[in-house]
Amino acid sequence: MKKILILNGPNLNLLGTREPAQYGHTTLPDVEAFCTAHGEQIGYDVECFQSNWEGALIDKLHEYGRLHKAGEALGVVFNPGALTHTSIALQDAIKGVEPLPVIECHISNVHARETFRHQSWVSPVAAGIVVGFGVDGYLIAMDGLVRKFVNSAATHKP
Ligand code: DQA
Repeated sequence: MKKILILNGPNLNLLGTREPAQYGHTTLPDVEAFCTAHGEQIGYDVECFQSNWEGALIDKLHEYGRLHKAGEALGVVFNPGALTHTSIALQDAIKGVEPLPVIECHISNVHARETFRHQSWVSPVAAGIVVGFGVDGYLIAMDGLVRKFVNSAATHKP
């Protein structure tokens, strides 16, 4: 079974207790469990990884670049947290592992929030973007990966 990586950046380990009005009450282990279950349903092996360290996220993207080249990974669903708005290194990492598809995913609607959250260094190199659907966004992004990179012809059938 090919792999899908659910990759989460800084502070997303605090999901469930962190600013619940913004991010809800679902914890990261809950998110990882429902993504894994969804992966089983759609035929993918889901790996979940979270780090508060930019370099660890970059290393994981590099690893998935290699797995994708070997035909062992479909792509990545990535919530880079606040690094979205600051990290040129993440943009370079995603460019560096092309054509690995990376879907950028944000729980909140970043465009309805502070202006500093409107800028993303990841969006220009993302294969798709899911914003503002709460934690369901991770599932929407997984389905988007499959629809865009596996079933693209099927999506256009009536
Ligand atoms: C976030 C939005 C970011 O602006 C913020 O720094 C986060 C979470 C989201 O999922 O909505 O940590 O990526």
